Amino acid sequence: MDKLHVNLGADSYDICFTDSFDKLTESLEEINAPKKLLIVTDTNVEPLYAKEVNTRLVEAGYDSAVYAFKAGEENKSMDSILGICGACVEHGLDRKSMILALGGGVVGDMAGFAAAIYMRGIDFIQIPTTLLSQSDSSVGGKTGIDFMESKNILGAFHQPKLVYINVNTLKTLPPVEFVSGMGEVVKHGIIRDAEFYRFIKENSALIKSLDSETLIKMSKINCGIKANVVEQDEKENGLRAILNFGHTIGHAAESSLNFTVTHGECVGLGMMAVSKIAVSRGLIDEATLKDIEETLREYDFRVRMPLPPADEIYGFMQKDKKKANGKLKFVLPVKIGDVMQTRDVTEKEIYDAIEFISE
Ligand code: NAD
Ligand code: GLY
Repeated sequence: MDKLHVNLGADSYDICFTDSFDKLTESLEEINAPKKLLIVTDTNVEPLYAKEVNTRLVEAGYDSAVYAFKAGEENKSMDSILGICGACVEHGLDRKSMILALGGGVVGDMAGFAAAIYMRGIDFIQIPTTLLSQSDSSVGGKTGIDFMESKNILGAFHQPKLVYINVNTLKTLPPVEFVSGMGEVVKHGIIRDAEFYRFIKENSALIKSLDSETLIKMSKINCGIKANVVEQDEKENGLRAILNFGHTIGHAAESSLNFTVTHGECVGLGMMAVSKIAVSRGLIDEATLKDIEETLREYDFRVRMPLPPADEIYGFMQKDKKKANGKLKFVLPVKIGDVMQTRDVTEKEIYDAIEFISE
């Protein structure tokens, strides 16, 4: 099985890349997982995969149970966390027990947060089932929930003990969620790795047809890029912020659209917007902007769409939790494979960029 090691000292872990759940129990044995486990999932993923995973665990001798909360970002809340913690108590989890997060980014962020606070912190593993969670949220240890209309405003850094990626789970994913996940994959290419960016551009047919071998290859390089950044700056004191490329305007667009457009597609819009700012500053040329647009279109992104008035989007940007001393941080491309961070983007540049992605 393909593996990648994330080197974070005592919090190091492996990411496994495969096309089934056949090696899950073996992977749990390798990390000396405890016998008492709780699979946390959502109501969409439960009927698809929870039974298979639970049966495999029980047959291998684990005392495992399933807890599902209602699917959807609107349930990424403290109420759901209390539900998960309640299930931990009812299933008799102690300080040595483990939570398995089986699902997309919402499941991973919430199961991880519950694991971070239950009995002051128990172990958990990530079994991501969306492209977004397989390419971004399951790696790096950020966990949390939304609160008072702010995304991910309550949370904790809590690294998983293992990430088990079964790319075949993507076969049941709604196409719109696949597009969303590709936003983060394209992002990783642009910020860090021109060769990977070319790979995703040139292999779009195989990737879109969900060819397992190609998806495993893509996933491994993609997670390697994220892991490398996290290894250098686990708690986001500097470098890790480059992972927010496209997110400052993207997040604000997502909020202004009332979450009717997926996170990844909004990140795509955000990447277009900041790339336009980079063109106007002479950091990249028009051809590079065109190249990014082509790649996003190849993966069925809308690179422009009807958006609420720029004032409204700008207003949401002011609530960004990454704002420091009143200044928003922007990540601008300097070429495919490299970016820079700055806090000096002007209001006019932001308004022009929003106009550029508005239809
Ligand atoms: P999600 O978890 O809501 O999943 C999207 C939808 O797909 C849901 O309806 C879910 O039930 C369904 N689903 C999941 N797997 C499926 C499968 N295999 N087949 C069919 N349906 C399936 O959303 P997401 O896009 O995976 O993640 C978004 C979340 O991730 C956001 O809350 C975001 O804040 C968070 N996030 C966290 C990080 C991090 O570093 N922790 C990074 C990026 C995003
Ligand atoms: N998704 C951004 C990060 O993990 O830092």
